[in-house]
Parts: sequence; C-alpha cells; structure tokens
Amino acid sequence: MITKAVIPAAGFGTRFLPITKAIPKEMIPIIDTPTIQYVVEEAVDSGIEDILIISGKDKRAIEDHFDSNPALESRLAEKADQSWYKMVRHISNLANIHIIRQKELNGLGDAIRHARWHVGNHPFAILLGDTILHSDSKPVTRQLIDVYREYHQSVVAVQRVPQDKVSRYGIVGGHKISENIWEMTEMIEKPAPETAPSNLAFAGRYILTASIFDKLDETPRGKNDEIQLTDAMKALLADEKTFACIFDGKRYDIGNKLDYLKTLVEYGLRREEFSDDFRTFLKTVI
Ligand code: UTP
Repeated sequence: MITKAVIPAAGFGTRFLPITKAIPKEMIPIIDTPTIQYVVEEAVDSGIEDILIISGKDKRAIEDHFDSNPALESRLAEKADQSWYKMVRHISNLANIHIIRQKELNGLGDAIRHARWHVGNHPFAILLGDTILHSDSKPVTRQLIDVYREYHQSVVAVQRVPQDKVSRYGIVGGHKISENIWEMTEMIEKPAPETAPSNLAFAGRYILTASIFDKLDETPRGKNDEIQLTDAMKALLADEKTFACIFDGKRYDIGNKLDYLKTLVEYGLRREEFSDDFRTFLKTVI
C-alpha cells in the first residue's frame, strides 16, 4: 500500500515573479482555490491521507491554508448559509498534513531527501506542488498506485508532448509493455528533438521505492548546481525496474504564466456558478 505522499513546495518560483517574492507559487489561485489544494485533494482522492509538504522560507501561507482558523470559523458558523463554514472546515480536515522545511534550495532532489525519515522504507508518492493533473476518470496518483500494485516497482506519470517541444521536458525512453505502460531504459532532461528517445515527458507525479533516498545521497550536484531528482532516478534505474504510465488526464503546470492563463480559462469553464454567456466567452478564448 502507498500511504504517504510528499509534496515539494519550497522552490523560489522565479518564473512567476514578482508575485512569488512574498507569496508561494503553490498558493497561486485557480480562481479562488490555491494550486496546492488541488494537489492535496488528488492525493486524498487517491487514498493517501499522510502528506508531507516540503516547505521553505516565506511559505507560511501554505501551512496556514491547511490549518484551522478558529476566529474565521466562529464568524462563519454564525451565518445562516453554512456552506462557507463547511468549506473552511473541510480544508483543515482534508488530510494529516506534516510540514518540513528545506532550509537551502538545492533542487527538487534535495527537497525529496528531506522526506527520508518521514517516509521510512516504504514506497511513496511524489506530487509536485505547482502542477495540477486533472482527470475525469481516476485521480492520476491513483492511476500510478494501480500500476505499482501490478509491478511493485517505481512508476512515473508521463504525457505525450509535441516532438518540437521535447527540449522543455524530462523525456523517457524504453519499450512499451501495454497500452499505456512503458518499461523505462533511460531518461533525459530536456533533449534536443532529434536525440529524444520518445516524446513521453515527465508530468510531476511519481511513485518511488525508498531506494531513491540512498541514490539521492550519492547524487552530485547537476544542472543549475542543484541535486536533480532525475539524476537519482537514473541511478535507481540501474538497480531496479522503473515504469512510465501514460496517464489519463490533463496537466496544468502553474509554474509558467501561459499555462496558468490556460488553466484559469479551463477551470472557469467547469464552474457552474458562472453565467452561460461568460462561459461562452471563455470558450472563444481557447
Ligand atoms: P520547479 O523547478 O518548477 O520550481 O520545481 P522552482 O524552482 O520554484 O521554479 P522556478 O524555476 O524558480 O520558476 C518543481 C516543484 O519542486 C519544488 C517547487 O516548489 C515546485 O513545486 N522545489 C523545487 C522544491 O521544493 N525545492 C527546490 O529546491 C526546488
């Protein structure tokens, strides 16, 4: 069973400055709901209630969002319309949220290393705190858990991207073993289109075995002088099989501004509270 999830959310978010100067990127709202709430909900809907958020300096808003707020709650409790009260209570009761701070931002791999003592020796899920994966069928982390249950090996979510855009992503190579599952033989960060082994790109969700922690400890600083999770996963690949799952759903990367705008439009379309006229307008934007 996968019972623990780690959500790295300590990064600077430099691509989203100036808002990220004082507001965590993961708290950027999709209309009215912070990005990281969608990420936590995905973990919970996948059956995981023990969640470790890797936080950092100036990220208190994340902690506060999932904490209770007695003053606000008692004010809302007095209202005839109890829906606001229930919503606020629901957020603080969503999951068992634990927070640990990454004191120096040494990259995603380093952030994951901070989860070692919380996770122990069991396989665990990683959900990037700035990436929403929406699925109408099954939460994407649940899709990965189902693959893990079959193969008992690490599995990462991937999506097809246009061939001319592979150089923006981590790309996996390997061979197809079923309709949506690949056994990985390599992974390359941001390859040139002509050298890319496929157009299957990492999508910000992973189930990894605890062996990743030893690999992370041995991983030297790589790109941007940071400890890269991909480098440690490459080392893991030498010892253990790793699978890629082409997930059913759509990725929204909140870390870049264009994707963020598209996300707002698409989530706006899903909101029934908006008038038909407004939603018709939104459709013209897509
Ligand atoms: P990114 O590389 O997209 O985040 O990491 P970033 O570094 O904040 O973004 P830019 O490039 O400066 O704009 C993906 C996820 O990993 C977390 C981030 O918070 C984000 O949710 N992360 C990244 C950490 O927790 N620690 C790190 O050292 C780096």
